[in-house]
Amino acid sequence: MARILISPFTFLFLGILGLISFPAEAAIKKYQFDIQVKNVSRLCHAKPIVTVNGRFPGPTIYVTEGDRVLVNVTNHAQYNMSIHWHGLKQYRNGWADGPAYITQCPIQTGGSYTYDFNVTGQRGTLWWHAHILWLRATVYGALVIMPKQGTPFPFPQPNEEFEILFGEWWHADVEEVVKRGTNMGLPPNMSDAHTINGKPGPLFPCSEKHTFAMEVELGKTYLLRIINSALNDELFFAIAGHSMTVVEVDAVYTKPFTTQAILIAPGQTTNVLVQANQIPSRYFMATRPFIDVPLAIDSKMATAILQYKGIPNTVLPTLPQLPASNDTQFALNYSKKLKSLNSQKHPANVPLKVDRNLFYTIGFGKNSCPTCVNGTKFLASLNNISFAMPQTAILQAHYFNIKGVYRTDFPDKPPTPFNYTGAPLTANLRTATGTRVSNIAFNSTVELVLQDTNLLTVESHPFHLHGYNFFVVGTGIGNFDPAKDPAKYNLVDPVERNTVGVPTGGWTAIRFRADNPGVWFMHCHLELHTGWGLKTAFVVEDGTGPNQSVLPPPKDLPPC
Ligand SMILES: *[C@@H]1O[C@H](CO)[C@@H](O)[C@H](O)[C@H]1NC(C)=O
Ligand SMILES: *[C@@H]1O[C@H](CO)[C@@H](O)[C@H](O)[C@H]1NC(C)=O
Ligand SMILES: *[C@@H]1O[C@H](CO)[C@@H](O)[C@H](O)[C@H]1NC(C)=O
Ligand SMILES: *[C@@H]1O[C@H](CO)[C@@H](O)[C@H](O)[C@H]1NC(C)=O
Ligand SMILES: *[C@@H]1O[C@H](CO)[C@@H](O)[C@H](O)[C@H]1NC(C)=O
Ligand SMILES: *[C@@H]1O[C@H](CO)[C@@H](O)[C@H](O)[C@H]1NC(C)=O
Ligand SMILES: *[C@@H]1O[C@H](CO)[C@@H](O)[C@H](O)[C@H]1NC(C)=O
Ligand SMILES: *[C@@H]1O[C@H](CO)[C@@H](O)[C@H](O)[C@H]1NC(C)=O
Ligand SMILES: *[C@@H]1O[C@H](CO)[C@@H](O)[C@H](O)[C@H]1NC(C)=O
Ligand SMILES: *[C@@H]1O[C@H](CO)[C@@H](O)[C@H](O)[C@H]1NC(C)=O
Ligand SMILES: *[C@@H]1O[C@H](CO)[C@@H](O)[C@H](O)[C@H]1NC(C)=O
Ligand SMILES: *[C@@H]1O[C@H](CO)[C@@H](O)[C@H](O)[C@H]1NC(C)=O
Repeated sequence: MARILISPFTFLFLGILGLISFPAEAAIKKYQFDIQVKNVSRLCHAKPIVTVNGRFPGPTIYVTEGDRVLVNVTNHAQYNMSIHWHGLKQYRNGWADGPAYITQCPIQTGGSYTYDFNVTGQRGTLWWHAHILWLRATVYGALVIMPKQGTPFPFPQPNEEFEILFGEWWHADVEEVVKRGTNMGLPPNMSDAHTINGKPGPLFPCSEKHTFAMEVELGKTYLLRIINSALNDELFFAIAGHSMTVVEVDAVYTKPFTTQAILIAPGQTTNVLVQANQIPSRYFMATRPFIDVPLAIDSKMATAILQYKGIPNTVLPTLPQLPASNDTQFALNYSKKLKSLNSQKHPANVPLKVDRNLFYTIGFGKNSCPTCVNGTKFLASLNNISFAMPQTAILQAHYFNIKGVYRTDFPDKPPTPFNYTGAPLTANLRTATGTRVSNIAFNSTVELVLQDTNLLTVESHPFHLHGYNFFVVGTGIGNFDPAKDPAKYNLVDPVERNTVGVPTGGWTAIRFRADNPGVWFMHCHLELHTGWGLKTAFVVEDGTGPNQSVLPPPKDLPPC
């Protein structure tokens, strides 16, 4: 998880001496991912989990901007599998994006599929994870893109870097837990622990102390590549005694700012610089959920240790001060501080003119389910449509013009407007279901306002769009006001990312240019809500130019 960094100037120096040759062509990086079940012990219980190459978390994909990446995923497990390269734009190449039944059919037991993609115009921390069922609970890892050789970071060069992945752990088999929940029409059991790099830390009541420790040296600067791979929790994170300087989110540089704690939603990544400038000792790093509605409260904390070199393990670390679990104000303040770097080298090309305005409401519902507890099952919807997974991948249906797989009549606005964030609506929670998506013209500019509603209850939702980054031009509490709110947008240096939180009982407006043809999934990154149908897709049409259409599918694309 640790990596010593050689400065780009050292590279340049060694290059001049002829000790390192600069490849004229981008490199090809090959990885083998064997999906296999392995017995892993974490919380005093050994249990078989689905892994990549027997590792948990899985291996880091480490590439340089411009590289071509080939990952041969071979499935030895009893589950169908697909892998998503979260945040990679996959230009014209949805075939390598990974969400099951959206861009590909799954890799079945015994099958192989090589994800073949170029890393173009992106650098920073992203990640990869299973994109089928809840298998990403154990199948995930970091994806680090270094800037091109000779290109320094636009912030002080760190001496060393670490990947920090947050996760959730269930004692029971996750797929069984989910199946049980689905059969009852209820939320599945919550996780039993949170983890940092797969380990809950020494405060978890278990005689085996599975703890991640990060060794630092006084006076050095560290880059932490933080990834929230948890399934259902937005998380706070802090390090006792040390502040953090945020320099990047979702593989886009930000204006640096210093903070005592960060907030990170499932799907998001955040790079921070940490200076080892405190009294050499041992310090806890800790993460705990942010939940600002009285749902099932999850206050489980995961800890890891920042340890100065030479300090013995017997020194008791102190805990950091994390914001309270329900600290909405901290969350709103924190989100407001995130801004694009917007430098000459890294401009924020915010679309100023909008071709297509979309307004999607987020809601919960309850539909009839005779076999479920109380005869109903929970679901979730966008514009009152709960997405039904097709059995043929939508990208295949789009490319080969297969009829009857999906409909393109997803409404641009709610079918029936109401007071979205008024009193909770608990009657008539019935919800329409369907495989309905929106067609988007090539290279048009899109503004999407995501509006939380009080259908059953308000809650915050981290939304992820595949195939694109977007600019977060505005956010607010209550109902979006199309007459007043756009005037308050930040169109200069809004944060650019691939996953954004829609605040509890509020709205978030994003903009992007639809210049990547293909079928792109958009969903809440809380797995619970994705499973309930809080998702849809954009079918971005081909352009007319020579490089403006979806590439032909690879020969080994898994069949349905
Ligand atoms: C996994 O470990 C448990 C506990 O040690 C043991 O009972 C079980 O047989 C093991 N399973 C496999 C597949 O090795
Ligand atoms: C992928 O890996 C599997 C298992 O090692 C192998 O059988 C297969 O030939 C590989 N595919 C490619 C394209 O290399
Ligand atoms: C990746 O780049 C190489 C070299 O330019 C090109 O041949 C290949 O088609 C590209 N692959 C994809 C999936 O775009
Ligand atoms: C869920 O939790 C309940 C109560 O703790 C327990 O009885 C049940 O076995 C759990 N279900 C699953 C599928 O793990
Ligand atoms: C947050 O939770 C604390 C204790 O659980 C409670 O006293 C406080 O009122 C809550 N604050 C908000 C803003 O809900
Ligand atoms: C939020 O920001 C406001 C204004 O900058 C400040 O007064 C307040 O203390 C901050 N609250 C939290 C919880 O950070
Ligand atoms: C089922 O209905 C009963 C009676 O209305 C209610 O008390 C209970 O909470 C409901 N259970 C669930 C899981 O919704
Ligand atoms: C919506 O509901 C809120 C809370 O009940 C209320 O304050 C507001 O006036 C309502 N808005 C409209 C347009 O009815
Ligand atoms: C959602 O659709 C269902 C089924 O068509 C309908 O009964 C319900 O009133 C709709 N709800 C909203 C909020 O539009
Ligand atoms: C998309 O439109 C913009 C603005 O009109 C233009 O600058 C750009 O070249 C277009 N991109 C493509 C791929 O056509
Ligand atoms: C299309 O892409 C190829 C390969 O990347 C490039 O050589 C060619 O110039 C592009 N054509 C146009 C019209 O952009
Ligand atoms: C695995 O995927 C195939 C192809 O989509 C499907 O036919 C099969 O039912 C899936 N198996 C399971 C266990 O879901």
